[in-house]
Amino acid sequence: MDRKKFIKRLGLGVVATPLLPTSLISCSGNSEIVKNNQTSECGITKSDVLGPYYVSGTAKITNLNTKNLAGDKIVVTGKIFGSADKSKPVANAMIEVWHADSGGTYHPVGNGNVSNFSADKITLRGFVTSDAEGNYTFESIRPGLYPGRPRHFHYKITANGYKTLVTQIYFSGDPRNSRENIESCRIIDFKKDSQNVYRGNADIHLESN
Ligand SMILES: [Fe+2]
Repeated sequence: MDRKKFIKRLGLGVVATPLLPTSLISCSGNSEIVKNNQTSECGITKSDVLGPYYVSGTAKITNLNTKNLAGDKIVVTGKIFGSADKSKPVANAMIEVWHADSGGTYHPVGNGNVSNFSADKITLRGFVTSDAEGNYTFESIRPGLYPGRPRHFHYKITANGYKTLVTQIYFSGDPRNSRENIESCRIIDFKKDSQNVYRGNADIHLESN
């Protein structure tokens, strides 16, 4: 099923979520968690569509921008938890990440196993693993936009003892977020640092098997 049909089937194309002030939509740090039942606890991270551009078997890598494509540098950090709260960090989780380039194009524009594509066609993809405290990080460039979607990263997270999670994370302040039914904890408040690098924290909560 292609993305448009899938979104239509889910009804996501017509579900509107009210836009919230930036200060209310980040779960990126304890100080920013809002004391509001609707926004303070997201629980287990919700799944999202895999989309048409997942490529399996990509390499372990911390800088996904292997071709040095033009774009705004971004560093994503976060923790993987094995519970709805922050009590159970998950070590050695595999976090596969893929995203569009600044112009909204995936590399490759396709799916399947990495062996089906020549190496020079593959970038802005790879995986990192969580450390003993559940921390993960990767670098890349800020994903670009393509028609019909908010700005996003794709994640597929695999860890022993937990259900595999396919999800996406989004950017605060993107008006396109309101077109989809995205809960607040997957909308990340990326901010530019003094080196002009976007930085944000995206915690993920996995469900036990
Ligand atoms: Fe996508």
